[in-house]
Amino acid sequence: MARHLLSAADLTRDEVLEILRTAASMHDVQRREVKKLPALRGRTVINLFFEDSTRTRSSFEIAGKWMSADTINITGKGSSASKGESLRDTVLTITAMAVDALVIRHSASGACHQVAEWVDASVINAGDGTHEHPTQALLDAYTMTQRLGDLEGRRVVIVGDLTHSRVFRSNLLLLKTLGADVTVVAPPTLMPSGAGPWSRQDGFALEQDLDDALFGGPPPDVVMMLRVQRERMSGGYFPTAREYTVGYGLTRPRLDRLRAANDDVLVMHPGPMNRGLEISAEAADSLNSVILDQVSAGVAVRMAVLYHLLVGTDGGSIEEGSA
Ligand code: NCD
Repeated sequence: MARHLLSAADLTRDEVLEILRTAASMHDVQRREVKKLPALRGRTVINLFFEDSTRTRSSFEIAGKWMSADTINITGKGSSASKGESLRDTVLTITAMAVDALVIRHSASGACHQVAEWVDASVINAGDGTHEHPTQALLDAYTMTQRLGDLEGRRVVIVGDLTHSRVFRSNLLLLKTLGADVTVVAPPTLMPSGAGPWSRQDGFALEQDLDDALFGGPPPDVVMMLRVQRERMSGGYFPTAREYTVGYGLTRPRLDRLRAANDDVLVMHPGPMNRGLEISAEAADSLNSVILDQVSAGVAVRMAVLYHLLVGTDGGSIEEGSA
């Protein structure tokens, strides 16, 4: 594997499968009473988050800790970035302390690629603006494969605020690598510009009508709802919350219809959810929901990513230390 993980497109199919296999071993560790492996002993991992986060930041921290790395969290608000320090100076300052991996979340699309050019440490993209969030796509793929096995030909429908979603962009790339059949759905105002030619080039289907996407063809195996990202919106992308829910929400009637077509349909959401807007409480809490499995998979997948980037596959058994 390369030194950095910046985009889901960086990974070959074999590398994805290898990470998912390692994540499954890590998931077993997660179920033990004593959750500690020596694999990253003596390594330092810095989580540098310039945007808010609950699950991504804590899961990277837990992942590092369970693998015996020294992990430190730095947030934009409490760091010298709020005193006007440039991103370059901040990352050069941090990496001057001999860190091994930098996990970065930043509001600027491309920020992680830029940082990777400046530092020797491994850089992991934990979300850059509206661009990518590769470890989210990996944990989503892990969650799907745990339930469905091979994703080749599986029908995945991704719904919501596509324009602002880095989760969608990374999922699209990774699901293509794994051979899934992807349909994306959004109102015209939240459909990325250029989506037409993009979908033809990358082989996914576009829909503006959610009911057509869900019920117009073979029943989906997975429905992934995306958060309406109001913090990235500068104007009115839809008239009212109610209209959005009626048109694009996973409401209770839609869930019932979906289940009638495929009782085992997986309901996913990367979180945080706007309950009552893009997803109803009934859907979020239904037996079909794997939303908390996604969170749990987040730790295992991030352990696997740190392991592959910092130790590699030649580093011996996962149970042994690398040093
Ligand atoms: C996502 C993100 O930050 O990109 N959340 C996450 O990492 N689980 C999605 C979102 O914020 O809507």
